[in-house]
Amino acid sequence: MRILGIETSCDETAAAVVEHGMHVASNVIASSSEAFTRAGGVIPEEAARRQLQCILPVIDQAMEGIDPSTLDAIAVTKGPGLLGSLLVGTTAARTLGFLWHKPVIGVHHTLGHLSSTFLGRSEPPCFPVLTLSVSGGHTELWLRESHTKGQLLGATRDDAAGEAFDKGAQLLGLPYPGGPALAELASTGDRTAFDFPLPLKDDPSLDWSFSGLKTSLKYLLRDTPDAKRTDVAASYEHAIARHLVERVRKALDAHDCHEVHLVGGVSRNLHLRAMLKDALGDTALRIPADPAYCTDNAAMIAAAGTFLWQELGEKALTPFETGATVKMLA
Ligand code: KG4
Ligand code: ZN
Repeated sequence: MRILGIETSCDETAAAVVEHGMHVASNVIASSSEAFTRAGGVIPEEAARRQLQCILPVIDQAMEGIDPSTLDAIAVTKGPGLLGSLLVGTTAARTLGFLWHKPVIGVHHTLGHLSSTFLGRSEPPCFPVLTLSVSGGHTELWLRESHTKGQLLGATRDDAAGEAFDKGAQLLGLPYPGGPALAELASTGDRTAFDFPLPLKDDPSLDWSFSGLKTSLKYLLRDTPDAKRTDVAASYEHAIARHLVERVRKALDAHDCHEVHLVGGVSRNLHLRAMLKDALGDTALRIPADPAYCTDNAAMIAAAGTFLWQELGEKALTPFETGATVKMLA
């Protein structure tokens, strides 16, 4: 099964061709995130305009050397995301589906991230899988029995983990997107220098809350202006990772699973990866095979489209509303 994936939920325009949900034949991304550095965040109308400029060249490049008649379907992010950006991708997918006589599969963005650990593998991972999905838009813990069947064990009650990185970076005066910049600053710091509180410490749920950490950082910077910035960044990064890992460990004690997967933009964070690996003991940790599959990309959307088709058949093709409340997992 060969699927063209299209992802345009935010400020990246991406297209990819994936075979059998695992082999990546092409993976193209045009990012406009640098254009938003000065604004300190994405401007939705500007992001949609840039999507329009990029969508056809990006699809052309992803389809280079591939005959459209050999595609089985087109998969596209149906939401959640910025409405204008999503419309560009879904309109392109529907138009190409009409022209090439191919079915179009609408994919929930998070199901894309959950599928990203299957890319670039020769053997698929074994379910049940516990997946921690951490991005700029969501933070969720899923216990999955298959690609489309699963239970949401916990989620953030306020900011997403990526947002905690981005907002923390902004407080530290670092450029957008803040996650990678904060991680770099933290890499030479002492993570034990400052003690951030562990959020929801006595809460029995598997939920997260990151907004208090951001506030603690704000007051720390206000009250200790001479604090070494590398130490502040390292301690803050450690606090985010500790909160994430503590919930996964707790879930693992309560549920049987073969592997733990870490996906989403924040899964690029090396300190989080190391802490999670340490906490899992004998349980295998799987992260996306390539850092490009952690952050938003179209290969994960093509993979998710393949799995939806395999598990749901024709039902995967039901009409979808762009940007409307979208159901998880299928
Ligand atoms: O999955 P993604 O590309 O987009 C969303 O679906 O939101 O994730 C983007 C998020 C941003 O918040 C970015 O700061 C964060 O992932 N991120 C990182 C790192 N690389 C990207 N956060 C911490 N450390 C990193 N190395
Ligand atoms: Zn994402």
